[in-house]
Amino acid sequence: NLTNTELELVNVTASWDEGIGELFEKIKQENKADDPPNGDTGLFFTNLYVTPVLKNIGLYLEKGKMLAVAGSTGSGKSSLLMMILGELVPSEGKIRHSGRISFSPQTSWIMPGTIRDNILFGLAYDEYRYTSVIRACQLEEDLALLPEKDKAPLKEGGVTLSGGQRARIGLARAVYKDADLYLLDSPFTHLDIVTEKEIFERCLCKLMSSKTRVVVTSKLDHLKRADKVLLLHNGMCYFYGSFSDLQAQRPDFSSLLLG
Ligand code: GTP
Repeated sequence: NLTNTELELVNVTASWDEGIGELFEKIKQENKADDPPNGDTGLFFTNLYVTPVLKNIGLYLEKGKMLAVAGSTGSGKSSLLMMILGELVPSEGKIRHSGRISFSPQTSWIMPGTIRDNILFGLAYDEYRYTSVIRACQLEEDLALLPEKDKAPLKEGGVTLSGGQRARIGLARAVYKDADLYLLDSPFTHLDIVTEKEIFERCLCKLMSSKTRVVVTSKLDHLKRADKVLLLHNGMCYFYGSFSDLQAQRPDFSSLLLG
């Protein structure tokens, strides 16, 4: 049922091999020009065969639901978000979503300007919306400590942010934007456990309760609260479904989350 579905992936496979094909063609052309006497240049490229970063992934997410994407490092979680964003083009399968995406990358970036500029990012200031986001992302106290509050300039002689502050500003920017689908890549990096718990509750669960969310996180508490869990292992789907099914079908799953 597409009217209720915000995101659908059907048997999707993808590789980060853009460029390899071009490189192959380029070197082939060059070698042709040089007319290599041995003629076995092709052998070299057999070693360059690229294995897919995501293999045969299928999922669907209904409007207003939260999907937690978990898995050890390098399992393909960020690549999955890049694929939904259209940055990584699948070699097989289909992806469907309605197109209005808000994305917060794993490493949040700051542009020159005030803290407020960095959250609004060109959108109009709506006091109620802005205040709700600031509170949910636990930025209220940080701002209160600054003489210029959210008008404090960042970069070039301005305030230097901690990693956790950067992360929360990046999250606030993504949440402030109105979208149909929110892709949040490891939004809790650099945050202590208490802050992480608070932001997960207040922002991801409460403030965003009616939003469709894909959140990269391997925290057990988060997987429990998500409507769906996708557990990746070496680019493959190790599990996809509800948390209770995960416990029932993959009782050993937590060993995959430690790496
Ligand atoms: P962590 O962030 O460490 O938890 O890993 P992850 O599960 O998010 O894996 P990720 O998708 O980042 O990486 C999977 C593989 O894809 C790795 O071999 C990466 O080197 C590769 N990869 C990730 N992003 C890119 C990219 O933008 N370009 C290319 N070419 N490769 C990428």
